[in-house]
Amino acid sequence: MPKRQQRTATWSRFANVDQEAEPAAFVRHMNTLAGLDLVKAYKQETFGLLEAKAGAKLLDVGCGPGTDARELAALVGPDGRVVGVDKSETMIAEARQLIQNQNLPLQYQIGDAYGLEFADNAFDGCRADRVLHHLDRPQTALAEIIRVVRPGGWIVLVDPDFDGFLIDSPDKAATRKVMQKRSDLYPNGRCGRQLFGLLKKAGLTDVTVAPTPIVFEDFDFVDQHVLGLRDAAEALRHSGELSSQQVEDWLGQLAQASREGLFFCMTLLFIARGRKPIKAE
Ligand SMILES: C[S@@+](CC[C@H](N)C(=O)[O-])C[C@H]1O[C@@H](n2cnc3c(N)ncnc32)[C@H](O)[C@@H]1O
Repeated sequence: MPKRQQRTATWSRFANVDQEAEPAAFVRHMNTLAGLDLVKAYKQETFGLLEAKAGAKLLDVGCGPGTDARELAALVGPDGRVVGVDKSETMIAEARQLIQNQNLPLQYQIGDAYGLEFADNAFDGCRADRVLHHLDRPQTALAEIIRVVRPGGWIVLVDPDFDGFLIDSPDKAATRKVMQKRSDLYPNGRCGRQLFGLLKKAGLTDVTVAPTPIVFEDFDFVDQHVLGLRDAAEALRHSGELSSQQVEDWLGQLAQASREGLFFCMTLLFIARGRKPIKAE
């Protein structure tokens, strides 16, 4: 398969990072995004929603290279405890490496969101940041998260919704086709809009969802680090759903808009929170 087509699907394949040809690329990808101000800002918001304060015991499911767990460890201090769990050995190795020889109330474990190896009610709160859209059974993972959080504790979930990306292009039909192609690559690409119902159906109380706008103004960045637009368009050309001319025009117009400072891409990140009922069965 040509390199370009491989990249299209890459960021939709976080479900099995260690089986990928270059797992380290997934770590680099996470670090690139973690460096963006808009990402730092929404993450801070989730720490507040989680009530990450001194002495708290918190869990970060799908912690990746551990950026957020490190921040949480600073917030809970020496009397608290943070555990970061990820299915990927590569992610956990990177996370551990970054805290080597540091005396933090923080531990990383390889583990699966579908079966967390913790006792019931073990944590004061749990977050899963951009994890559930990579799972084909998000409700099973959520049930596990709820099980390990104590009654009254907060659960905070963050996910995008890939059917909700808006791109300003004169070709409406091509834009829709590309975005649909992109969204359908994910196990659960429309997760963002489902979080409200997911938390409610799971019996959580005080459920809120804050749709947070994210704006990108650089076509190349969006292509390489967020959506793989060139590759998705190429795949549609390959399947005959878009003509060569349409693909060239569509990509050319977006690149041109970017050079002129006119490229505009927006999406909503859904930040959802719910509380485990005090009288849990
Ligand atoms: C997009 S990354 C997000 C990482 C981190 N939460 C962040 O916001 O930087 C998704 C992470 O979920 C992990 N993951 C995917 N499926 C998982 C599962 N079933 N159980 C635990 N972790 C999983 C991946 O290995 C990856 O590190």
